[in-house]
Amino acid sequence: GTLTVHTGRRGAELSDLFGIFFEDLNHAADGGLYAELVQNRSFEFDPIDKADYHALTAWEPVIRGDGQAVITVEDKEPLNARNLHYAVIDIVSEGGGVGIMNLGFNSGIPVKEGDNYKFSMYARRDNSWDTSLTVTIEGVDGTVYGAAEITVNSSEWDRYEAVIQADSTDNSSRLVILAGGSGKVCLDMVSLFPEKTFLNRPGGLREDLSVLLADMKPKFMRFPGGCLIHDGSLNPDDRNSMYRWKNTIGDIAQRPPRRNNWSYNQTLGLGYLEYFQFSEDIGAKPIPVLPGGYDPHHKRIVPLDELQPWIDDALDLIEFANGDSSTEWGGIRAGLGHPEPFGLEYIGIGNEEVGEPFFERYPYFHEAIKAKYPEIKVINSSGPFSAGKEYERGWASARANGSDLVDEHYYAAPEWFLANHHRYDEFKAGEPKVFLGEYASWGNTYYNALVEAAFMTGLQNNAHAVGLACYAPMLCNVDYVNWKPDMIWFNNHQAYGTANYYVQKLFMNHQGDQLLEMRSCGFAPAQAQEVQPITGAITLAVDASAARFSEISLVNNLTGEVKAYADLSGEVADLPDPALNGAAKRTLELGPTHWTDYTLSLKAVRTGGTKGFVLYFGK
Ligand code: AHR
Repeated sequence: GTLTVHTGRRGAELSDLFGIFFEDLNHAADGGLYAELVQNRSFEFDPIDKADYHALTAWEPVIRGDGQAVITVEDKEPLNARNLHYAVIDIVSEGGGVGIMNLGFNSGIPVKEGDNYKFSMYARRDNSWDTSLTVTIEGVDGTVYGAAEITVNSSEWDRYEAVIQADSTDNSSRLVILAGGSGKVCLDMVSLFPEKTFLNRPGGLREDLSVLLADMKPKFMRFPGGCLIHDGSLNPDDRNSMYRWKNTIGDIAQRPPRRNNWSYNQTLGLGYLEYFQFSEDIGAKPIPVLPGGYDPHHKRIVPLDELQPWIDDALDLIEFANGDSSTEWGGIRAGLGHPEPFGLEYIGIGNEEVGEPFFERYPYFHEAIKAKYPEIKVINSSGPFSAGKEYERGWASARANGSDLVDEHYYAAPEWFLANHHRYDEFKAGEPKVFLGEYASWGNTYYNALVEAAFMTGLQNNAHAVGLACYAPMLCNVDYVNWKPDMIWFNNHQAYGTANYYVQKLFMNHQGDQLLEMRSCGFAPAQAQEVQPITGAITLAVDASAARFSEISLVNNLTGEVKAYADLSGEVADLPDPALNGAAKRTLELGPTHWTDYTLSLKAVRTGGTKGFVLYFGK
């Protein structure tokens, strides 16, 4: 077959097409990307988060030898009005040591030999004499890997810090705090962070997960979630509040505990400044999504005459991201250590807002944002594709309001993705663009990944209509699974990208900037279920003179077991990237001259039919 690429006939810009979507489900933040090693550091876990949670979840009393102590959680003299609970160690007799220990996430607290760990806590003594604390990182059998001594010398809340170096590697260790002497000592915000975080930011993000994400080179990051943003009460001061971004910035001890709708507690340690910072660090444009004054799960609706604070949240967020430090919210950002603006371009209102109350409220947000910030692209919500009528309602609202994009979501069988390869072919340029804010085929197999790769070529081909697309969900802690499949799986010390991850990464690493017209002929599909070796050649005539791109990649979309792989260089080679299996990707450097013929030699043994080959072009 021959494929002709006309570099002179240019189509749509690909712009910010492929990005990532972060939602704190599957413990993606606490016990995940947020590198805090202590679970329930502020003793705020509560049955409102999860039925079996209590203030001492993930904590255990430690009573050694003939020691005696009473461990309680109290709220009489709290650290602050947003951090009401704290632990009290009432030492009856010191014995071999009394206190509390934190179990961390997964199998425990992972430490590496030679690495430093930053311990911090707020404490106050409840006596007129000082209390000495011994803080250790220990194995399950009590072997001490590192220790620090702290003297609590005030009856007022003070912050104490220590650096503990681990002398062993153990992924199941514990943080132990033993109180000496007699009397009472109160503890809150007990924290242990690896000194090595992504880019070594203090209180920052877990390095291995961050690197996996940074390596994708996503064009954007949508955050902080889908259902997570709109599930909750209307009062921002409520324990059960919807996700309100102003609650997530500043001193972590002042960020209120939050019920995460995925049935756990969310510390908000990973908050809006951290999301913006991480987006900047990995070169992704930030795309925050705010609730639209409506909780479709519980049908909570903000009355129209009380909508202004919700609209202000959107306007203030834009100022927080983009205003200079002379503005109120730009000044707050600068005060938090980021004087330069973040360059926000997009904002989303609502997530899968199936219901008329959302569409009644959306125009108020849209008009206010466009009036003050006409350059900001506003994303409307269409509800999940499966919602049928509501989905159409979202598009009608987007057209009526002139939304820049419409967020649509679908999770479906691989066959749906194959059948819908041409889904956007009929979408018109000049209409609101598609923000495919969540999609995945049901599974993490190679076949799922391959099907998604094929579908993504359809997204690329329709860049006139599809503006942004991101796979979902992104992260999953293997011991706290709310949803699967997911792109990256991890425990407390390991992280793996799935085949789906490698497809996403491939497309992002090689995203072109502009569509070119292509013509093909002579690509005959092989017989389904044929079981025999195939060899063949595709001749590719490429005019690379305009230097719009410099490489071509091939996704070999064979079903069944693939034993050998196509190689663009003409030789059969081992699969270069094991995670892709059937999606053998080889890259061809293009020469600078006009119309060069390249031969793609194919040799593959397959047990299923071939669906053909997908070629894509990158710079
Ligand atoms: O990605 C998981 C969930 O799926 C999201 O929270 C929601 O938007 C969708 O229903």
